[in-house]
Amino acid sequence: MRILLTGGLGFIGSAVVRQAVQAGHTVLNLDLQTYAGDPRTVASVADSDLYEHRTVDICDDGAVRQAFEDFFPDRVMHLAAESHVDRSIDGPAEFVRTNVVGTTVMLQEAQRWLTAHPNEQFRFVHISTDEVFGSLTLDDEPFCETTSYDPRSPYSASKAASDHFARAWFHTYDFPVVVTNCSNNYGPFQFPEKLIPLMVIKALNGEPLPVYGKGDNIRDWIHVEDHAEGLLQAAIEGQAGSTYLFGGDAERTNIDVVHMICDLVDAVAGSGEAPRRNLITYVTDRPGHDHRYAIDFETTTNRLGWKPSRSFEDGLRDTVQWYLDNDDYWEPILAGRYAGTRLGSAE
Ligand code: NAD
Ligand code: DAU
Repeated sequence: MRILLTGGLGFIGSAVVRQAVQAGHTVLNLDLQTYAGDPRTVASVADSDLYEHRTVDICDDGAVRQAFEDFFPDRVMHLAAESHVDRSIDGPAEFVRTNVVGTTVMLQEAQRWLTAHPNEQFRFVHISTDEVFGSLTLDDEPFCETTSYDPRSPYSASKAASDHFARAWFHTYDFPVVVTNCSNNYGPFQFPEKLIPLMVIKALNGEPLPVYGKGDNIRDWIHVEDHAEGLLQAAIEGQAGSTYLFGGDAERTNIDVVHMICDLVDAVAGSGEAPRRNLITYVTDRPGHDHRYAIDFETTTNRLGWKPSRSFEDGLRDTVQWYLDNDDYWEPILAGRYAGTRLGSAE
């Protein structure tokens, strides 16, 4: 495949880039390299003849158009986004610009290019989140393909809008869109504003571990490499107009996740700060904090043969070890563009 991918210097996009190039696909990565983009995430494939990166803003229609004309893709995988809920509380406008306007620019330029170069195989895979479905109670059934949208944060509202635009392009213009929605990813190279890397690094450093509210919010966790495998399968085999849900079959409360991280760091990094559970500090809750996300991905398994292959216990142990072994990834970030401070408290 020739994959024009956006957001490939980010956490999930870079995992897709690494897997795609290793599988022999040719990738053009359009990424603006915002605070969340980092070329080190794709260093393992950056010298390959199959890989090219361009510093492009997805809102820049001229640059996006030129990329299509130069590259002749048969797949688009659109991951570029503002992705952090807490930042969307502090500054929603950037989420509207990148996630809504940027997605419509990508759809418009892809459609313009496909009209000029018809290709039955072409697919536009729009990568989204389970947060568009809203918040579950403990008694609710997990999200599925037909769950109504009910976004509740500026981030999820902007992603929901982008999903609606993607599906509008399918229904209105017969443009071959595939939408995917996935639960919380974790793994190597996640920016340390997100729960798991932030807690691992703070636990290592012996700093307070800020748990929002009572710590009883529930997320479903999937290893990023499992998600990337599913996304590539959806790009290869996905049916135009279809939605594919990806999940990790690993619902956990936040406090359970933080306890696991404390115990893993105690075991691997030694006893200096142990027991690190003593570092847990309950802090003011996130405004509008969604209580629970859960995914029923059975239809995706039936249609693509995909299911997650890593257990949360194994994946989290490997991930904690990765952050311990790769302080050269996160130390410069904490010394520069993100100091590990609280975001989105709306105070
Ligand atoms: P990330 O924040 O790690 O990376 C986003 C990337 O997009 C960065 O490399 C950034 O430089 C790039 N980018 C941002 N604005 C851009 C612009 N205007 N033009 C070009 N590039 C731009 O995000 P992530 O966690 O890897 O998420 C990737 C996608 O997957 C997002 O669409 C997100 O909504 C979705 N998603 C994320 C998760 C998760 O748990 N992280 C779960 C489900 C879905
Ligand atoms: O569900 C998929 C979504 O998962 C993705 O679409 C988003 O891009 C991704 O950021 C993630 O959103 P969350 O808000 O669930 O992830 P985050 O890591 O920010 O927080 C996970 C949970 O941990 C959430 O309930 C808030 C809580 N939390 C988070 C931080 C950063 C804390 O208790 N303390 C913290 O310091």
